[in-house]
Amino acid sequence: VEHEVSVHQIGGRIGARIDGVRLGGELDDATVATIRAALLRHKVVFFRDQHHLDDAGHQAFARRLGTLTTAHPTVNTGDAHVLSLNATQGMAANSWHTDVTFVDRIPAISILRGVHIPPYGGTTNWANTAAAYEALSAPLKALVDELWAVHTNEYDYAATAEDPENETPDKAALDQRQFRSTYFETEHPVVHVHPETGERALLLGHFVKRFVGLNTAESHAIFQLLQNRVTKLENTVRWTWAPGDVAMWDNRATQHYAVADFDTHRREVRRVTLVGEVPVAIDG
Ligand code: SIN
Repeated sequence: VEHEVSVHQIGGRIGARIDGVRLGGELDDATVATIRAALLRHKVVFFRDQHHLDDAGHQAFARRLGTLTTAHPTVNTGDAHVLSLNATQGMAANSWHTDVTFVDRIPAISILRGVHIPPYGGTTNWANTAAAYEALSAPLKALVDELWAVHTNEYDYAATAEDPENETPDKAALDQRQFRSTYFETEHPVVHVHPETGERALLLGHFVKRFVGLNTAESHAIFQLLQNRVTKLENTVRWTWAPGDVAMWDNRATQHYAVADFDTHRREVRRVTLVGEVPVAIDG
């Protein structure tokens, strides 16, 4: 029996669960269109019970929505397109970020599959960066509309660790060296125009090093102010993973944060990202 595809909004500003879909490369065009529309509207969408998906199926589904990127610009993975995120601290996903913003063409969409899920903790949170921009006052919009940020992969991991001494085990240190093995630095507009929806959204996250033309203290203060607006709880949604869950987010309109509160339990999620465009500022 074919199930009816249904979209259930789960947060006020971000997030929806899509039921009645068996993800894979063989999805019909109408269902793919429904998923894309829900993604653009809700910014992150979730699918339960996709236990049948393996890396091949994951990639086949992703290909229905776009072109796959290589797994990661600097992290060496066994597979060309699938990035396994299985360390508590190694990838430092436990701070707010948009994926891979330190390259010119940041990924458009990320698709994450839950493989090993800890018995508690390990949720992921997403924030709506378009709603955050929209909610800014006119003077703040005027400030950010013309601001550019420098993004690098050499951000300060230690700044996000509660106890840097204990949170830099050998493996994490190794991962971080690999992550930074090639230095990337690029400038992006702080406000960019979404290529599909035309919405304006803040483009920030933990790879921002400073703002062009501002000194370190000014950059830090403005960064904190803006990040606080992006990550205000009303602007976020939290997902509690079960094995077989899939989360798909619009990397052009979100930031996310994976919570590192699962002690030494195993957590493995696998990610495929789709090629995006160079972010475009308001004035082109
Ligand atoms: C990521 O930053 O893409 C990973 C998120 C997660 O591990 O939940």
